[in-house]
Amino acid sequence: QVQPVILCGGSGTRLWPLSRAGFPKQFLCLSGTESLFQQAARRLSALRNESISVAAPYIVSNEEHRFLALEQLREAQIDLGAALLEPIGRNTAPALTLAALAALETGQDPILAVTPADQIVRNEAAFISAMQEAIVNASQGAIVVLGITPDRPETGYGYIKTQSAQDSNSVLNVERFVEKPDLTTAQRYLSEGGYYWNAGIFVVKASVWMQALEYFRPDIAKSSRDAWDARTSDAAFIRPGKAEFSSITSESVDYAVMEYCPGSQFPLAMVPLDAGWSDLGAWDAVWNTQEKDEAGNVHQGDVLAQDSRNTLVYATGRLVSLVGVDDLVVIETPDAVLIVDKSRCQDVKYIVNELQQNH
Ligand code: GDD
Ligand code: MG
Repeated sequence: QVQPVILCGGSGTRLWPLSRAGFPKQFLCLSGTESLFQQAARRLSALRNESISVAAPYIVSNEEHRFLALEQLREAQIDLGAALLEPIGRNTAPALTLAALAALETGQDPILAVTPADQIVRNEAAFISAMQEAIVNASQGAIVVLGITPDRPETGYGYIKTQSAQDSNSVLNVERFVEKPDLTTAQRYLSEGGYYWNAGIFVVKASVWMQALEYFRPDIAKSSRDAWDARTSDAAFIRPGKAEFSSITSESVDYAVMEYCPGSQFPLAMVPLDAGWSDLGAWDAVWNTQEKDEAGNVHQGDVLAQDSRNTLVYATGRLVSLVGVDDLVVIETPDAVLIVDKSRCQDVKYIVNELQQNH
């Protein structure tokens, strides 16, 4: 039994001003006709086959976005398993733990297929076969991650060093996991070779996750259990105790557990994923993944451009025009306009920090 878990409580600040606190990026249609969240839910339900039974997904999100998420699932005609609603974001380790505790509550020990809600996967068939491989391994007790072959020294990802394969086996042992290295380190990994990016997808039995968390971060395990024990339920909405949940240390799955796994009693396995994967973290990634015109531009909405190359423009209401500019990102919304050099897209988060503090 596979229990899909969609983590969708992030705030997507680097995609401001389209991504807002009230409407974060995972719920936006940035490419195609479905939101990133809907795409994630659909990909997971496609895992179902003769030998794998897939339950309706759990979503773990912020209380504030419950109706947005529910409405989008309804629109995509995907049933909801349960909505685990956090009073406040505590990053992904507590979020995954809520899902594990909810799964164990049913008296079974399903394999959790945990995915983020901010990604694009072009080749669904390749995704499915990698996940099936991961599920087989997880059923034998492994913690399994999916790895992407890196093509640049990206610092926003986790890096996975694998042991070279002994045979044609597509499952590799992980020697080291390093979350978000600095640029020099990322460059070194790229030139050394043998490293993959962590796709942010985790496949693990609910009980194995709890054992690993208890071993590496007993503090998070304990306070997550306290929050779970203090929960209230209202149909499919499950709310952990507010005070208990808020007191959990904010930590990602990667820092809390994955980095410690290699070489421990909780070994990590990795299945390579070659499926046109991308994480829509910042605007340059959006430009990267979209279809471009002859001059390398991606323009949506009312846009007029002369002699401009490699630009990304989203115009939601007004006409936006460009003359003689290259590598620029312009995002026009009713109450805010962002203009940023395409090489500086990561830094949009500083604007959002500033806004949160002073406005
Ligand atoms: N429920 C909940 N609560 N979800 C959260 C929270 C939270 O507090 N924080 C983040 N999420 C969701 C986000 O919405 C996203 O879908 C997913 O969890 C991952 O969080 P990100 O904040 O986007 O993580 P990241 O991109 O910096 O890093 C992770 O993903 C990379 C690949 O995209 C790591 O796993 C990296 O190792 C990995 O390379
Ligand atoms: Mg992300």
